[in-house]
Amino acid sequence: MERLAGPGWAVCPDFIKPAALTSLAAEARALWEDGAFRHARVGVGDQLQLRPEVRSDYVHWLNEYTLSPALADYYRRIEQLRLELNQALYLGLFNFEAHLTVYPPGSFYHRHLDQFRDTRHRIVSCVLYLNDDWQSGHGGQLRMYMPGSDDYKDVLPRGGTLVVFLSNLIEHEVLPATRERFSLTGWLRLRESLP
Ligand code: OGA
Ligand code: MN
Repeated sequence: MERLAGPGWAVCPDFIKPAALTSLAAEARALWEDGAFRHARVGVGDQLQLRPEVRSDYVHWLNEYTLSPALADYYRRIEQLRLELNQALYLGLFNFEAHLTVYPPGSFYHRHLDQFRDTRHRIVSCVLYLNDDWQSGHGGQLRMYMPGSDDYKDVLPRGGTLVVFLSNLIEHEVLPATRERFSLTGWLRLRESLP
């Protein structure tokens, strides 16, 4: 709470238990091997575009009504976080949308903000990493830029680490990796009907 209210970002290693991580990682890999991921696109609504020069990852959107037990557990944790953030910081967060993400070796997502210019529903970005035994030599860092500067903080996508940041404040990018990089990326949002 304090870190989100202060610098606007926080890193929480071991956010989930090892058994939960094993289940989520196996589920993501099985969906990937079944061809259930699509090229990620950029933008929102009818402005969605394939922009492989901007991002070259693949995503599998989750449906909150058909979650596996492991995903349902994770959604319950995020629901607790939503309620606590609303109580502590009065953010008015209403719901959560999320996708599983794969970055094949060499893929990336250039520096960006998660909040779109014309729709400002995404308030808090939540990225959970699903990779066993990730070493710095594998690359694939999440690089978060400090607001108004080119100073940055790099985070390795180590299994069980959760990164949360303010979607309209923290520009970030994903550096290319030498191995497949799995994550579960989601956003705590305001109601659709609000501007
Ligand atoms: C995103 C994103 C970061 C990551 O999907 O918008 O920035 O580390 N993901 O996977
Ligand atoms: Mn992002």
